[in-house]
Amino acid sequence: MERLRDRVQNIYTKIMDNSPVFAQADASLPNYTQENIRIVKSAVGSNLPPKEKVGSDFDSRMMLRCLELARRALGRTSPNPLVGAVIVKDGEIVGEGFHPRAGEPHAEVFALKAAGVGAASPQENRACGATIYVNLEPCNHYGRTPPCSEGLIQAGVAKVVVGMVDPNPLVAGGGIARLRAAGIEVVVGVEESACHQLNEAFVHRILYKRPLGILKYAMTLDGKIATTSGNSTWVTSQEARSEVHQLRTACDAIIVGGNTLRQDNPYLTSHQVGAHNPLRVVMSRHLNLPESAHLWETADAPTLVLTQEGANRNFQEMLRKLGVEVVELALLTPDQAMAYLYERGFCSVLWECGGTLAASAIAQGAVQKILAFIAPKIIGGSIAPTPVGDLGFTTMTEALSLERVRWRVVGSDCLVEGYLTQKVNSQ
Ligand SMILES: NC(=O)c1ccc[n+]([C@@H]2O[C@H](COP(=O)([O-])OP(=O)(O)OC[C@H]3O[C@@H](n4cnc5c(N)ncnc54)[C@H](OP(=O)(O)O)[C@@H]3O)[C@@H](O)[C@H]2O)c1
Repeated sequence: MERLRDRVQNIYTKIMDNSPVFAQADASLPNYTQENIRIVKSAVGSNLPPKEKVGSDFDSRMMLRCLELARRALGRTSPNPLVGAVIVKDGEIVGEGFHPRAGEPHAEVFALKAAGVGAASPQENRACGATIYVNLEPCNHYGRTPPCSEGLIQAGVAKVVVGMVDPNPLVAGGGIARLRAAGIEVVVGVEESACHQLNEAFVHRILYKRPLGILKYAMTLDGKIATTSGNSTWVTSQEARSEVHQLRTACDAIIVGGNTLRQDNPYLTSHQVGAHNPLRVVMSRHLNLPESAHLWETADAPTLVLTQEGANRNFQEMLRKLGVEVVELALLTPDQAMAYLYERGFCSVLWECGGTLAASAIAQGAVQKILAFIAPKIIGGSIAPTPVGDLGFTTMTEALSLERVRWRVVGSDCLVEGYLTQKVNSQ
Protein backbone atom coordinates (compact mmCIF):
# COMPACT_ATOMS: atom_id res chain seq x y z
CA MET A 1 0.00 0.00 0.00
CA GLU A 2 2.82 2.34 0.99
CA ARG A 3 4.68 1.51 -2.23
CA LEU A 4 1.60 2.18 -4.32
CA ARG A 5 1.15 5.58 -2.66
CA ASP A 6 4.80 6.43 -3.39
CA ARG A 7 4.33 5.41 -7.02
CA VAL A 8 1.21 7.54 -7.37
CA GLN A 9 2.97 10.49 -5.80
CA ASN A 10 5.82 9.95 -8.24
CA ILE A 11 3.51 10.02 -11.29
CA TYR A 12 1.75 13.10 -9.98
CA THR A 13 5.09 14.83 -9.42
CA LYS A 14 5.99 14.04 -13.04
CA ILE A 15 2.77 15.54 -14.46
CA MET A 16 3.16 18.55 -12.21
CA ASP A 17 6.86 18.93 -13.02
CA ASN A 18 6.91 22.30 -14.74
CA SER A 19 10.51 22.06 -15.88
CA PRO A 20 11.04 21.98 -19.68
CA VAL A 21 13.24 18.86 -19.23
CA PHE A 22 10.05 16.85 -18.99
CA ALA A 23 9.12 17.77 -22.57
CA GLN A 24 9.67 14.28 -23.98
CA ALA A 25 8.37 12.36 -21.00
CA ASP A 26 4.99 11.25 -22.34
CA ALA A 27 6.19 7.67 -22.61
CA SER A 28 6.56 7.56 -18.84
CA LEU A 29 3.01 8.73 -18.24
CA PRO A 30 0.55 5.91 -17.79
CA ASN A 31 -2.47 5.46 -19.95
CA TYR A 32 -5.58 5.82 -17.89
CA THR A 33 -5.55 3.51 -14.88
CA GLN A 34 -6.98 3.51 -11.39
CA GLU A 35 -3.86 5.42 -10.49
CA ASN A 36 -5.08 8.44 -12.45
CA ILE A 37 -8.13 8.49 -10.22
CA ARG A 38 -5.90 8.53 -7.18
CA ILE A 39 -3.73 11.25 -8.68
CA VAL A 40 -6.73 13.53 -9.03
CA LYS A 41 -8.14 12.51 -5.67
CA SER A 42 -4.86 13.35 -4.01
CA ALA A 43 -4.87 16.75 -5.70
CA VAL A 44 -8.44 17.46 -4.53
CA GLY A 45 -8.11 16.04 -1.02
CA SER A 46 -7.55 18.10 2.07
CA ASN A 47 -4.95 15.86 3.65
CA LEU A 48 -2.02 17.03 1.57
CA PRO A 49 0.17 19.84 2.89
CA PRO A 50 -0.52 23.20 1.19
CA LYS A 51 1.24 23.37 -2.16
CA GLU A 52 3.63 26.06 -3.25
CA LYS A 53 2.11 28.70 -5.50
CA VAL A 54 2.59 27.85 -9.18
CA GLY A 55 3.16 30.71 -11.66
CA SER A 56 3.29 34.48 -11.32
CA ASP A 57 0.59 36.84 -10.10
CA PHE A 58 -0.14 37.60 -13.76
CA ASP A 59 -0.61 33.85 -14.42
CA SER A 60 -3.05 33.70 -11.50
CA ARG A 61 -5.02 36.66 -12.83
CA MET A 62 -5.28 35.07 -16.28
CA MET A 63 -6.36 31.74 -14.79
CA LEU A 64 -9.03 33.44 -12.70
CA ARG A 65 -10.21 35.11 -15.91
CA CYS A 66 -10.49 31.61 -17.46
CA LEU A 67 -12.71 30.57 -14.54
CA GLU A 68 -14.84 33.68 -14.98
CA LEU A 69 -15.34 32.85 -18.66
CA ALA A 70 -16.03 29.19 -17.88
CA ARG A 71 -18.78 30.21 -15.42
CA ARG A 72 -20.78 31.79 -18.26
CA ALA A 73 -21.89 28.27 -19.17
CA LEU A 74 -22.87 27.27 -15.60
CA GLY A 75 -25.32 24.38 -15.60
CA ARG A 76 -25.17 23.88 -19.37
CA THR A 77 -22.05 21.80 -20.09
CA SER A 78 -22.72 18.39 -18.49
CA PRO A 79 -21.41 15.78 -18.91
CA ASN A 80 -18.55 18.06 -19.91
CA PRO A 81 -16.61 20.37 -17.58
CA LEU A 82 -16.70 24.16 -17.34
CA VAL A 83 -13.71 25.49 -19.25
CA GLY A 84 -12.46 28.95 -20.17
CA ALA A 85 -9.37 29.92 -22.17
CA VAL A 86 -7.39 33.13 -22.55
CA ILE A 87 -4.60 33.80 -25.09
CA VAL A 88 -1.98 36.38 -24.16
CA LYS A 89 0.67 37.89 -26.42
CA ASP A 90 3.14 40.56 -25.32
CA GLY A 91 1.22 41.00 -22.08
CA GLU A 92 -2.12 41.60 -23.85
CA ILE A 93 -5.18 39.39 -24.16
CA VAL A 94 -5.63 38.59 -27.87
CA GLY A 95 -8.33 35.93 -27.63
CA GLU A 96 -10.81 34.46 -25.13
CA GLY A 97 -13.39 31.72 -25.16
CA PHE A 98 -15.36 29.21 -23.13
CA HIS A 99 -17.03 25.87 -23.70
CA PRO A 100 -20.75 26.67 -24.08
CA ARG A 101 -22.25 23.15 -23.94
CA ALA A 102 -21.55 19.49 -24.71
CA GLY A 103 -21.18 18.86 -28.44
CA GLU A 104 -19.97 22.39 -29.15
CA PRO A 105 -16.28 23.29 -29.59
CA HIS A 106 -14.00 23.46 -26.56
CA ALA A 107 -12.86 26.74 -24.98
CA GLU A 108 -9.44 26.62 -26.69
CA VAL A 109 -11.09 26.55 -30.14
CA PHE A 110 -13.11 29.71 -29.43
CA ALA A 111 -10.06 31.48 -27.99
CA LEU A 112 -7.88 30.52 -31.00
CA LYS A 113 -10.56 31.74 -33.38
CA ALA A 114 -10.84 35.03 -31.49
CA ALA A 115 -7.05 35.36 -31.79
CA GLY A 116 -7.32 35.11 -35.56
CA VAL A 117 -6.48 31.43 -36.09
CA GLY A 118 -8.20 30.19 -39.25
CA ALA A 119 -8.53 33.72 -40.65
CA ALA A 120 -7.87 34.29 -44.37
CA SER A 121 -4.39 35.69 -43.84
CA PRO A 122 -1.84 33.86 -41.63
CA GLN A 123 -0.55 37.26 -40.41
CA GLU A 124 -3.78 37.59 -38.47
CA ASN A 125 -2.83 34.61 -36.29
CA ARG A 126 -1.95 36.34 -33.02
CA ALA A 127 -1.84 32.98 -31.21
CA CYS A 128 1.48 32.13 -32.87
CA GLY A 129 4.20 32.47 -30.22
CA ALA A 130 1.57 33.35 -27.58
CA THR A 131 0.68 31.84 -24.20
CA ILE A 132 -2.69 30.18 -23.73
CA TYR A 133 -4.24 29.83 -20.27
CA VAL A 134 -6.86 27.15 -19.76
CA ASN A 135 -8.32 25.93 -16.48
CA LEU A 136 -8.42 22.25 -17.56
CA GLU A 137 -5.82 20.25 -19.43
CA PRO A 138 -6.45 20.39 -23.21
CA CYS A 139 -7.94 17.17 -24.60
CA ASN A 140 -5.89 14.82 -26.74
CA HIS A 141 -8.55 12.61 -28.33
CA TYR A 142 -11.22 12.69 -31.01
CA GLY A 143 -14.60 12.98 -29.32
CA ARG A 144 -17.43 15.06 -30.67
CA THR A 145 -14.69 17.59 -31.54
CA PRO A 146 -11.05 17.13 -32.67
CA PRO A 147 -8.21 17.18 -30.08
CA CYS A 148 -7.40 20.64 -28.71
CA SER A 149 -3.74 19.66 -28.21
CA GLU A 150 -3.33 19.37 -32.01
CA GLY A 151 -5.14 22.67 -32.57
CA LEU A 152 -2.73 24.43 -30.20
CA ILE A 153 0.30 22.83 -31.85
CA GLN A 154 -0.93 23.83 -35.32
CA ALA A 155 -1.65 27.39 -34.18
CA GLY A 156 1.98 27.67 -33.04
CA VAL A 157 1.38 28.62 -29.41
CA ALA A 158 4.62 28.80 -27.44
CA LYS A 159 3.34 28.09 -23.94
CA VAL A 160 0.31 26.46 -22.34
CA VAL A 161 -0.64 27.25 -18.74
CA VAL A 162 -3.01 24.64 -17.30
CA GLY A 163 -5.06 24.95 -14.11
CA MET A 164 -5.56 21.23 -13.44
CA VAL A 165 -5.02 17.82 -14.97
CA ASP A 166 -8.17 16.39 -16.61
CA PRO A 167 -9.31 13.27 -14.69
CA ASN A 168 -11.18 12.04 -17.79
CA PRO A 169 -9.64 8.66 -18.68
CA LEU A 170 -9.44 9.83 -22.30
CA VAL A 171 -7.18 12.73 -21.28
CA ALA A 172 -5.56 12.19 -17.83
CA GLY A 173 -2.14 13.72 -18.55
CA GLY A 174 -2.14 12.78 -22.25
CA GLY A 175 -2.88 16.31 -23.47
CA ILE A 176 -0.03 17.76 -21.41
CA ALA A 177 2.35 15.05 -22.57
CA ARG A 178 1.42 15.62 -26.24
CA LEU A 179 2.05 19.36 -25.98
CA ARG A 180 5.39 18.85 -24.22
CA ALA A 181 6.40 16.26 -26.80
CA ALA A 182 5.76 18.91 -29.49
CA GLY A 183 8.23 21.21 -27.72
CA ILE A 184 5.63 23.50 -26.15
CA GLU A 185 6.34 24.73 -22.62
CA VAL A 186 3.56 23.57 -20.30
CA VAL A 187 2.97 24.85 -16.78
CA VAL A 188 0.48 22.89 -14.67
CA GLY A 189 -1.27 23.83 -11.44
CA VAL A 190 -1.85 27.61 -11.58
CA GLU A 191 -4.78 28.36 -9.21
CA GLU A 192 -5.31 24.62 -9.07
CA SER A 193 -7.63 24.52 -6.09
CA ALA A 194 -9.93 27.20 -7.58
CA CYS A 195 -9.97 25.16 -10.80
CA HIS A 196 -10.91 22.01 -8.88
CA GLN A 197 -13.60 23.87 -6.97
CA LEU A 198 -15.30 25.06 -10.18
CA ASN A 199 -15.32 21.57 -11.67
CA GLU A 200 -15.80 19.52 -8.49
CA ALA A 201 -19.00 17.97 -9.84
CA PHE A 202 -17.36 16.97 -13.13
CA VAL A 203 -14.41 15.47 -11.25
CA HIS A 204 -16.77 13.56 -8.94
CA ARG A 205 -18.73 12.21 -11.92
CA ILE A 206 -15.55 10.93 -13.55
CA LEU A 207 -14.09 9.40 -10.40
CA TYR A 208 -17.20 7.79 -8.93
CA LYS A 209 -19.51 7.32 -11.94
CA ARG A 210 -22.26 9.21 -10.13
CA PRO A 211 -23.28 12.89 -10.08
CA LEU A 212 -22.10 14.94 -7.10
CA GLY A 213 -24.94 14.96 -4.56
CA ILE A 214 -25.45 18.25 -2.72
CA LEU A 215 -27.94 18.34 0.16
CA LYS A 216 -29.23 21.85 0.74
CA TYR A 217 -31.63 22.81 3.50
CA ALA A 218 -32.81 25.83 5.43
CA MET A 219 -33.37 25.40 9.17
CA THR A 220 -34.08 27.47 12.22
CA LEU A 221 -31.56 27.86 15.01
CA ASP A 222 -33.37 25.08 16.87
CA GLY A 223 -32.89 22.71 13.93
CA LYS A 224 -36.35 22.71 12.30
CA ILE A 225 -36.99 22.84 8.56
CA ALA A 226 -40.73 23.50 8.95
CA THR A 227 -43.36 24.04 11.64
CA THR A 228 -45.27 21.16 13.20
CA SER A 229 -47.99 21.77 10.57
CA GLY A 230 -45.42 21.46 7.76
CA ASN A 231 -45.21 25.17 6.87
CA SER A 232 -41.76 26.26 5.70
CA THR A 233 -42.26 29.55 3.85
CA TRP A 234 -39.89 31.09 4.64
CA VAL A 235 -37.25 29.84 6.98
CA THR A 236 -34.47 32.09 5.67
CA SER A 237 -33.99 35.64 4.39
CA GLN A 238 -34.46 36.86 0.81
CA GLU A 239 -30.65 36.98 0.39
CA ALA A 240 -30.29 33.31 1.30
CA ARG A 241 -33.11 32.35 -1.04
CA SER A 242 -31.47 34.30 -3.88
CA GLU A 243 -28.27 32.39 -3.21
CA VAL A 244 -30.23 29.14 -3.56
CA HIS A 245 -31.60 30.35 -6.90
CA GLN A 246 -28.00 30.96 -8.04
CA LEU A 247 -27.01 27.53 -6.85
CA ARG A 248 -29.82 25.97 -8.89
CA THR A 249 -28.50 27.55 -12.09
CA ALA A 250 -25.25 25.64 -11.58
CA CYS A 251 -26.90 22.23 -11.05
CA ASP A 252 -28.21 19.68 -13.53
CA ALA A 253 -31.11 18.39 -11.42
CA ILE A 254 -32.98 19.07 -8.16
CA ILE A 255 -34.63 16.24 -6.26
CA VAL A 256 -37.53 16.47 -3.83
CA GLY A 257 -39.60 13.74 -2.20
CA GLY A 258 -43.33 13.29 -2.72
CA ASN A 259 -44.03 14.79 0.69
CA THR A 260 -42.25 18.07 -0.04
CA LEU A 261 -44.29 18.37 -3.22
CA ARG A 262 -47.52 17.73 -1.27
CA GLN A 263 -46.62 20.14 1.56
CA ASP A 264 -44.81 22.97 -0.24
CA ASN A 265 -45.94 22.90 -3.90
CA PRO A 266 -42.49 24.31 -4.85
CA TYR A 267 -41.39 25.82 -8.18
CA LEU A 268 -37.70 24.79 -7.88
CA THR A 269 -36.67 27.13 -10.70
CA SER A 270 -33.74 29.53 -10.70
CA HIS A 271 -36.16 32.52 -10.83
CA GLN A 272 -33.92 34.43 -13.25
CA VAL A 273 -34.71 35.42 -16.81
CA GLY A 274 -32.54 33.52 -19.28
CA ALA A 275 -30.77 31.48 -16.57
CA HIS A 276 -30.45 27.72 -16.73
CA ASN A 277 -33.19 25.78 -14.94
CA PRO A 278 -32.22 22.31 -13.76
CA LEU A 279 -34.37 19.26 -14.34
CA ARG A 280 -36.85 19.09 -11.44
CA VAL A 281 -37.12 15.55 -10.13
CA VAL A 282 -39.79 14.16 -7.81
CA MET A 283 -39.22 10.79 -6.16
CA SER A 284 -42.55 9.22 -5.24
CA ARG A 285 -43.20 5.54 -4.60
CA HIS A 286 -46.98 5.63 -4.68
CA LEU A 287 -47.71 8.66 -6.88
CA ASN A 288 -50.44 9.87 -4.54
CA LEU A 289 -49.58 13.38 -5.64
CA PRO A 290 -51.82 16.38 -6.38
CA GLU A 291 -53.20 16.68 -9.92
CA SER A 292 -52.33 20.34 -9.95
CA ALA A 293 -48.83 21.44 -8.92
CA HIS A 294 -46.26 24.04 -9.98
CA LEU A 295 -43.91 21.22 -10.97
CA TRP A 296 -46.41 20.03 -13.57
CA GLU A 297 -46.12 23.40 -15.35
CA THR A 298 -43.37 22.35 -17.68
CA ALA A 299 -43.24 25.53 -19.75
CA ASP A 300 -41.08 27.00 -16.95
CA ALA A 301 -38.70 24.06 -16.59
CA PRO A 302 -38.74 20.33 -17.30
CA THR A 303 -39.94 17.87 -14.66
CA LEU A 304 -39.19 14.19 -14.21
CA VAL A 305 -41.07 11.91 -11.84
CA LEU A 306 -39.18 8.86 -10.68
CA THR A 307 -41.39 6.11 -9.33
CA GLN A 308 -41.62 2.36 -8.79
CA GLU A 309 -42.68 -0.12 -11.38
CA GLY A 310 -46.45 -0.30 -11.74
CA ALA A 311 -47.25 2.72 -9.54
CA ASN A 312 -50.55 4.50 -10.26
CA ARG A 313 -50.51 4.13 -14.07
CA ASN A 314 -53.52 6.46 -14.56
CA PHE A 315 -51.69 9.24 -12.78
CA GLN A 316 -48.57 8.56 -14.85
CA GLU A 317 -50.67 8.97 -17.98
CA MET A 318 -52.08 12.27 -16.74
CA LEU A 319 -48.57 13.57 -16.01
CA ARG A 320 -47.28 12.57 -19.44
CA LYS A 321 -50.14 14.47 -21.07
CA LEU A 322 -48.95 17.56 -19.20
CA GLY A 323 -45.43 17.10 -20.59
CA VAL A 324 -43.99 15.61 -17.39
CA GLU A 325 -41.55 12.77 -17.94
CA VAL A 326 -42.24 9.67 -15.84
CA VAL A 327 -39.69 6.91 -15.34
CA GLU A 328 -40.29 3.70 -13.40
CA LEU A 329 -37.29 2.25 -11.60
CA ALA A 330 -37.24 -1.36 -10.42
CA LEU A 331 -36.09 -0.09 -7.03
CA LEU A 332 -36.82 3.53 -6.12
CA THR A 333 -33.80 4.38 -3.97
CA PRO A 334 -31.52 7.44 -3.86
CA ASP A 335 -28.66 5.36 -5.23
CA GLN A 336 -30.72 4.09 -8.16
CA ALA A 337 -31.97 7.63 -8.83
CA MET A 338 -28.36 8.87 -8.93
CA ALA A 339 -27.31 5.96 -11.16
CA TYR A 340 -30.12 6.88 -13.55
CA LEU A 341 -29.17 10.58 -13.54
CA TYR A 342 -25.54 9.63 -14.16
CA GLU A 343 -26.61 7.71 -17.25
CA ARG A 344 -28.37 10.85 -18.44
CA GLY A 345 -25.02 12.65 -18.33
CA PHE A 346 -25.53 14.73 -15.19
CA CYS A 347 -22.65 16.03 -13.07
CA SER A 348 -24.47 17.64 -10.12
CA VAL A 349 -27.71 16.92 -8.30
CA LEU A 350 -29.17 19.16 -5.62
CA TRP A 351 -31.20 17.37 -2.96
CA GLU A 352 -33.84 19.86 -1.74
CA CYS A 353 -35.99 17.23 -0.05
CA GLY A 354 -37.19 16.86 3.53
CA GLY A 355 -35.52 14.80 6.25
CA THR A 356 -37.00 11.43 5.27
CA LEU A 357 -35.48 11.30 1.80
CA ALA A 358 -32.36 13.18 2.95
CA ALA A 359 -31.59 10.47 5.53
CA SER A 360 -32.06 7.78 2.94
CA ALA A 361 -29.82 9.67 0.46
CA ILE A 362 -27.06 10.14 3.05
CA ALA A 363 -27.29 6.52 4.16
CA GLN A 364 -26.84 5.34 0.57
CA GLY A 365 -23.90 7.63 -0.15
CA ALA A 366 -25.88 9.80 -2.59
CA VAL A 367 -24.84 13.01 -0.80
CA GLN A 368 -21.27 14.30 -0.72
CA LYS A 369 -21.73 17.98 0.05
CA ILE A 370 -23.92 19.77 2.58
CA LEU A 371 -25.16 23.35 2.37
CA ALA A 372 -27.02 24.28 5.54
CA PHE A 373 -28.63 27.72 5.77
CA ILE A 374 -29.28 28.51 9.42
CA ALA A 375 -31.76 31.26 10.27
CA PRO A 376 -31.51 33.03 13.64
CA LYS A 377 -35.08 32.02 14.56
CA ILE A 378 -36.62 29.61 17.03
CA ILE A 379 -39.84 27.81 16.02
CA GLY A 380 -39.94 24.93 18.51
CA GLY A 381 -42.27 21.95 18.19
CA SER A 382 -41.14 18.54 19.29
CA ILE A 383 -42.48 16.88 16.12
CA ALA A 384 -41.50 19.67 13.70
CA PRO A 385 -39.43 18.17 10.86
CA THR A 386 -35.64 18.29 10.97
CA PRO A 387 -33.20 18.26 8.01
CA VAL A 388 -32.08 14.64 8.34
CA GLY A 389 -34.32 11.79 9.54
CA ASP A 390 -33.21 8.59 11.21
CA LEU A 391 -29.75 7.30 10.37
CA GLY A 392 -29.86 4.55 12.97
CA PHE A 393 -27.16 6.10 15.16
CA THR A 394 -27.39 5.81 18.94
CA THR A 395 -24.12 7.32 20.17
CA MET A 396 -22.50 10.66 19.35
CA THR A 397 -19.33 8.85 18.31
CA GLU A 398 -21.23 7.59 15.26
CA ALA A 399 -21.94 11.13 14.02
CA LEU A 400 -20.83 11.88 10.47
CA SER A 401 -18.23 14.66 10.56
CA LEU A 402 -17.99 17.15 7.74
CA GLU A 403 -14.63 17.98 6.21
CA ARG A 404 -13.38 21.18 4.59
CA VAL A 405 -16.01 23.14 6.54
CA ARG A 406 -16.59 26.80 5.73
CA TRP A 407 -19.23 29.22 6.89
CA ARG A 408 -20.30 32.73 6.04
CA VAL A 409 -23.13 35.13 6.68
CA VAL A 410 -25.77 35.47 3.94
CA GLY A 411 -28.26 38.26 4.68
CA SER A 412 -29.39 37.59 8.24
CA ASP A 413 -28.57 33.87 8.00
CA CYS A 414 -25.49 31.73 8.24
CA LEU A 415 -24.45 29.25 5.54
CA VAL A 416 -22.40 26.29 6.71
CA GLU A 417 -20.95 24.08 4.01
CA GLY A 418 -18.77 21.02 4.08
CA TYR A 419 -18.17 17.58 2.62
CA LEU A 420 -19.30 14.16 3.85
CA THR A 421 -16.70 11.54 3.24
CA GLN A 422 -17.63 8.82 5.73
CA LYS A 423 -19.99 6.00 4.88
CA VAL A 424 -22.96 5.06 7.06
CA ASN A 425 -21.96 1.61 8.31
CA SER A 426 -25.43 0.21 8.84
CA GLN A 427 -26.19 0.35 5.08
N1 LIG B 1 -36.59 24.05 4.97
C1 LIG B 1 -36.16 23.26 4.02
O1 LIG B 1 -35.02 23.40 3.57
C2 LIG B 1 -37.06 22.18 3.50
C3 LIG B 1 -36.73 21.52 2.32
C4 LIG B 1 -37.55 20.49 1.88
C5 LIG B 1 -38.68 20.16 2.63
N2 LIG B 1 -38.97 20.85 3.75
C6 LIG B 1 -40.13 20.49 4.57
O2 LIG B 1 -39.99 19.11 4.88
C7 LIG B 1 -41.27 18.56 5.06
C8 LIG B 1 -41.34 17.26 4.26
O3 LIG B 1 -40.32 16.39 4.73
P1 LIG B 1 -40.42 14.83 4.48
O4 LIG B 1 -39.24 14.23 5.10
O5 LIG B 1 -41.75 14.37 4.91
O6 LIG B 1 -40.43 14.78 2.89
P2 LIG B 1 -39.42 14.31 1.75
O7 LIG B 1 -38.22 13.69 2.35
O8 LIG B 1 -39.19 15.42 0.79
O9 LIG B 1 -40.29 13.25 1.04
C9 LIG B 1 -40.47 11.94 1.52
C10 LIG B 1 -41.12 11.19 0.42
O10 LIG B 1 -40.15 10.86 -0.57
C11 LIG B 1 -40.62 9.76 -1.33
N3 LIG B 1 -39.59 8.73 -1.49
C12 LIG B 1 -39.34 8.08 -2.63
N4 LIG B 1 -38.36 7.20 -2.47
C13 LIG B 1 -37.97 7.28 -1.20
C14 LIG B 1 -36.97 6.60 -0.47
N5 LIG B 1 -36.20 5.67 -1.03
N6 LIG B 1 -36.80 6.93 0.82
C15 LIG B 1 -37.58 7.88 1.38
N7 LIG B 1 -38.54 8.57 0.72
C16 LIG B 1 -38.73 8.27 -0.56
C17 LIG B 1 -41.86 9.24 -0.66
O11 LIG B 1 -42.92 9.84 -1.39
P3 LIG B 1 -44.35 9.18 -1.61
O12 LIG B 1 -44.99 9.20 -0.26
O13 LIG B 1 -45.02 10.09 -2.60
O14 LIG B 1 -44.16 7.80 -2.13
C18 LIG B 1 -41.73 9.85 0.73
O15 LIG B 1 -42.97 9.99 1.35
C19 LIG B 1 -42.28 19.58 4.59
O16 LIG B 1 -42.90 20.15 5.70
C20 LIG B 1 -41.43 20.61 3.87
O17 LIG B 1 -41.98 21.90 4.04
C21 LIG B 1 -38.19 21.86 4.21
